[in-house]
Amino acid sequence: MKTVLVASSKGGAGKTTIATHLAAHAALEGRRTALVDADPQQSSTRWAERRAALESAVLPVPGARRAKAAWKSLPETTQRVVVDAPAGAMAEDLGVWLEHADAVVVPVQPSALDLDATVHFLNTLAQHPRVRRGELRVGLVANRMKPWTNASQATLDLLGQWPYPVVATLRDSQAYVLLVGLGRSLFDYRSAQVRDHQADWAPLLKWLGRP
Ligand SMILES: Nc1ncnc2c1ncn2[C@@H]1O[C@H](COP(=O)(O)OP(=O)(O)OP(=O)(O)O)[C@@H](O)[C@H]1O
Ligand SMILES: [Mg+2]
Repeated sequence: MKTVLVASSKGGAGKTTIATHLAAHAALEGRRTALVDADPQQSSTRWAERRAALESAVLPVPGARRAKAAWKSLPETTQRVVVDAPAGAMAEDLGVWLEHADAVVVPVQPSALDLDATVHFLNTLAQHPRVRRGELRVGLVANRMKPWTNASQATLDLLGQWPYPVVATLRDSQAYVLLVGLGRSLFDYRSAQVRDHQADWAPLLKWLGRP
């Protein structure tokens, strides 16, 4: 069983968008996938409920309270767990998930406010014993990028200096807004319009697939 935690203390960074997409991708590959919703807003639970009739359905698991019990409640047959963390949670609030995760994905948007908030979050993450010992990988995802803007370029330059790799650059696109609202993901489609956006995810999926 592989567990991916999608986390950032910054609100609206793209945690739910990324967590739901990673869950959809795993389920479409045929893996029994659980999506733990650690956020009381329950956005990813609603997404999973909208997807319930699909063959690539994902099991929604409530995780906003009693995280240990939520972890224990996962069916033994689960092959992939994706955890969607809430805004405001620092590493010390993510204890159970950091204990069990194989990788942490941290979305960052191209703005000074987002970058500053993320530095603060990453500093708390860096103090976690599993991160310090190199047992838990951390990858950054530059999200809602507009590659033609100075802000996006400056963000990528800055992220390149941080101690964690940038494992994907996702463009700003209404496709995410629309599809997540429908319980869907980019990976559910094969049209030419989504192919470029799917390609944005390839390095992240490859990074997560590493042993
Ligand atoms: N790459 C993207 N392109 C366009 N819109 C995006 C993208 N990623 C996320 N969004 C939009 O930005 C908003 C915030 O995204 P999301 O809900 O995934 O963030 P979050 O980190 O889970 O927020 P919260 O902290 O409230 O849980 C949503 O409206 C979402 O549709
Ligand atoms: Mg969210």
